[in-house]
Amino acid sequence: MAKHRSPKARGVKRRVRRPSRTPAREKREAQARPAGPGNRGERPRRPPAAPVPDPAWVIRCAPGLARTVRAELRHADVLRHTDRVDLLWQRNHDLLFLPAASGDPAAAELRTVEEIDRCIIYGRYKMSRDQLDRLAGHLRHTTARWRLVATAEGTHFNRHDLRRFLARELEQRGLRMDERAPHTVFAFCVDAAYYVVVPETAADAMPGRSARVAEREASLPPSVAAAMAFLGKPGAGDTVLDPVCGSGTLLAEAAAYAPGAALVGRDIDAGAVAAARDNLTGYDADLGEADARELDLADGRASLVLANLPFGKQFGDVDDNPDLYRALLTEMLRTAAPRGWRAVLLAADPDLVAEAAADLPLRLAKRVPIRVRGEAATITVLNRR
Ligand SMILES: C[S@@+](CC[C@H](N)C(=O)[O-])C[C@H]1O[C@@H](n2cnc3c(N)ncnc32)[C@H](O)[C@@H]1O
Repeated sequence: MAKHRSPKARGVKRRVRRPSRTPAREKREAQARPAGPGNRGERPRRPPAAPVPDPAWVIRCAPGLARTVRAELRHADVLRHTDRVDLLWQRNHDLLFLPAASGDPAAAELRTVEEIDRCIIYGRYKMSRDQLDRLAGHLRHTTARWRLVATAEGTHFNRHDLRRFLARELEQRGLRMDERAPHTVFAFCVDAAYYVVVPETAADAMPGRSARVAEREASLPPSVAAAMAFLGKPGAGDTVLDPVCGSGTLLAEAAAYAPGAALVGRDIDAGAVAAARDNLTGYDADLGEADARELDLADGRASLVLANLPFGKQFGDVDDNPDLYRALLTEMLRTAAPRGWRAVLLAADPDLVAEAAADLPLRLAKRVPIRVRGEAATITVLNRR
């Protein structure tokens, strides 16, 4: 993975001219020396590396949600608008690379993320020997068995070379990588930048998520539900309605962002309502069985609608969706608060939502294409025209 540097760039010329070596100078030179394969065997003895991570982070989220996660990072003051963030779109997830975040993502309550990875070493072009010592020190300090996964984007690094290089350098420092190890160290190279990270926090560790006890087949992953809630900007004064609430994932995430908001959930299936009750035991939620086309709710009651519309696969039939969506939107508008109403809807076919909205006094404010458990879907944000 490492690019060869000229003797001049490595400081060799200076060392020849000035043979007297102070400890400080020796340290400086050792740091300047590249850690590539050409220098193996020359390594000076060092004190054991302290496990001090870099202030860089890598964050994973569901495919399509990178920009929403970036907005949440800014909202949570983890990133300032001027802080750099690189986004990478992959098939199974999006990645956000934060070389120098202003805040600590692991300490913030970021609900739209899937996983937060702490960076042990970060840099550009070439890992220094000092960094490799630090990485080995950190891994050794945490656990003895690691699996190494390398990803490279751009032309600067090659994934296989990167993996071989790191495995060899770590082995020289007493750490043998093991494909079957339960813990993973990830090496990411994006253009000339490298991030070597270990997982720090996962989505299910977010506050409130352990209260979730009932799953249903079509339940939304909580981080996707959180992204929808975040896009709806819930506040304490809101009444949040999910007219097809299933197991209540969207309402739980809305409540996490806006603890004072009133929660209303309806579903046509008694089993779904029972699951939502189990998952929302800690909340004063109004839950019940109803057809979302004809809700038992007063006009103007809800200020925010969050809904994962039936895709027509597990529930209903795709051919019925145009009529169903029109009826659902009509009923949402009847129950819509006179001011500040908005709806955040997830559907497999966003055009059906747009067509239904076009017949009503609704404005399409935003679309976020995502993948949910491998299936393409789109989040649509609607306002009243
Ligand atoms: C995709 S699931 C919602 C999943 C939910 N967001 C969750 O995370 O558990 C769609 C739900 O719509 C409900 N449903 C389908 N047709 C409905 C209708 N006409 N009125 C109310 N609920 C309906 C189904 O029973 C199902 O629970």
